[in-house]
Amino acid sequence: MAKDYNGIVFDGGSPEDTDYENRLVDPVYQGYEQDGDNPLRPQTFDDYIGQHKVKENMKVFIDAALGRRETLDHVLLYGPPGLGKTTLAGIIARELGVGLRITSGPAIARPGDLAAILSSLNPGDVLFIDEIHRLARQVEEILYPAMEDFAIDIMTGKGQGAMSYHLPLPKFTLVGATTRAGQLSAPLRDRFGMLMRLELYTTEELADIVTRSASILGIDIDNDGALELASRSRGTPRIANRLLKRTRDFAEVEGSGIINERIARMALDRLEIDELGLDKIDRLLLSSIIRFYNGGPVGLDTIAAAIGEEAVTIEDVYEPYLMQIGFITRTPRGRCVTRLAYEHLEMESPSDVQPGQSTIF
Ligand code: ADE
Repeated sequence: MAKDYNGIVFDGGSPEDTDYENRLVDPVYQGYEQDGDNPLRPQTFDDYIGQHKVKENMKVFIDAALGRRETLDHVLLYGPPGLGKTTLAGIIARELGVGLRITSGPAIARPGDLAAILSSLNPGDVLFIDEIHRLARQVEEILYPAMEDFAIDIMTGKGQGAMSYHLPLPKFTLVGATTRAGQLSAPLRDRFGMLMRLELYTTEELADIVTRSASILGIDIDNDGALELASRSRGTPRIANRLLKRTRDFAEVEGSGIINERIARMALDRLEIDELGLDKIDRLLLSSIIRFYNGGPVGLDTIAAAIGEEAVTIEDVYEPYLMQIGFITRTPRGRCVTRLAYEHLEMESPSDVQPGQSTIF
């Protein structure tokens, strides 16, 4: 069932239905943040902090499309979860002055579901498909002509009574989002006019986001407090905003209501999120590679089974940040933990490691 939230239509997976884990630093859990009413979601490029290259290029493409009175070409946004792909889709629609329709790959079960969504769009609308790599094959095949020719061919009936209808569609812009661009089929990837990679945010960018969010929510926070939260947010605004809200709770109940460095540290220590933003699962992942596999290399499936997590979750959620901070490397023979991770965990590194041995130093 499509649901309308403040002019943004969600098809399947509406805010209330969102399933989530309890992990505080999980960038996938969206809670009410997915809601069209989320006051922290920037509405324009001017409010949107970070992702400089993507933002500047998108502005040019949007201005050019508006100048030619054309629909914007299809856009693929890829990168780790929680970096603002849905937010960007919203900004693109707003800057184009068109409607936004939000759905996701797994929510579109049958070709007919996609046909219904496409034929109900208004001319020029943005259709946002999250997790587009999870579209069913038959659904994806309907999407090709829809993206290329703005038309679909629908088959009804079977055998001799089968009929094919050619259904012209309004022109639209597809904004696809994925954490795994490599899993997209080549025909689908090739039909996007723009492929844009979102990067993890810097600590300074996250501190700006935390300060902006605090001012919207009426939370008192100083610079050092914002930097402390930012440096423990794994490069991810969604995590930064969540930590801000939890830290406010500590500030109000156990402090004077103001978030400074001391309160931020106390709150995050109580939440067992360490100085680099690693939580228990990150530490378990690293320490398991060290304990059971001598620091690696170890295959992704093996380590996933050892810690009881899905391999895709490790790859999409945990690894990007652990690789960014140089704690894990990927080699052709598997994952390896680096000396930095040993030092951070205060675990003894093998003293007799020779060059060419498995552990990377
Ligand atoms: N809130 C979440 N992501 C943001 C961003 N990139 N800029 C500003 N506020 C945000």
